[in-house]
Amino acid sequence: MKIKEILDKNGRTPDKLISSLLEYQKTTLCNYLTEDDLREFAKETGIPLSRISSVASFYSLLSTESRGRYIIQVCYDVPCYVNNSVNIVKELEKNLGIKMGQTTEDETFSLEFSSCLGCCDKAPVMQIGETLYGNLTSEKIASILDKYRGEKDE
Ligand code: FES
Repeated sequence: MKIKEILDKNGRTPDKLISSLLEYQKTTLCNYLTEDDLREFAKETGIPLSRISSVASFYSLLSTESRGRYIIQVCYDVPCYVNNSVNIVKELEKNLGIKMGQTTEDETFSLEFSSCLGCCDKAPVMQIGETLYGNLTSEKIASILDKYRGEKDE
């Protein structure tokens, strides 16, 4: 879906900006917003480019850098941290062969830290796309990732 179509549907007021940026980002091949995309949002909404750029760089679900098809966000706030999110991070890095903040060479997965994902009772928690995974253990990571690898090959 093009930017104009999304804004026609959602509206062009500042309170709709983040949801429209997120919706558009999902349609991009590498899960990120280019400078040209941000310029078009500015032109279409009348919101200054500097403000749109700030939103895009501040809001953790938005990115201005190329990322993988699946963004894996690992919660690193205190409840998850004390429930061994460190081990989850180690297992993800080992399985994918990348470090946090990096994207796999085939551009399938990106690894990112996240603040609280809103379900601390299931700590440790990670999110892939819009799906939350809680009560994680190192042993669960491989089968979760394989599911996404399977989707990619379909
Ligand atoms: S602290 Fe991890 S989900 Fe809330």
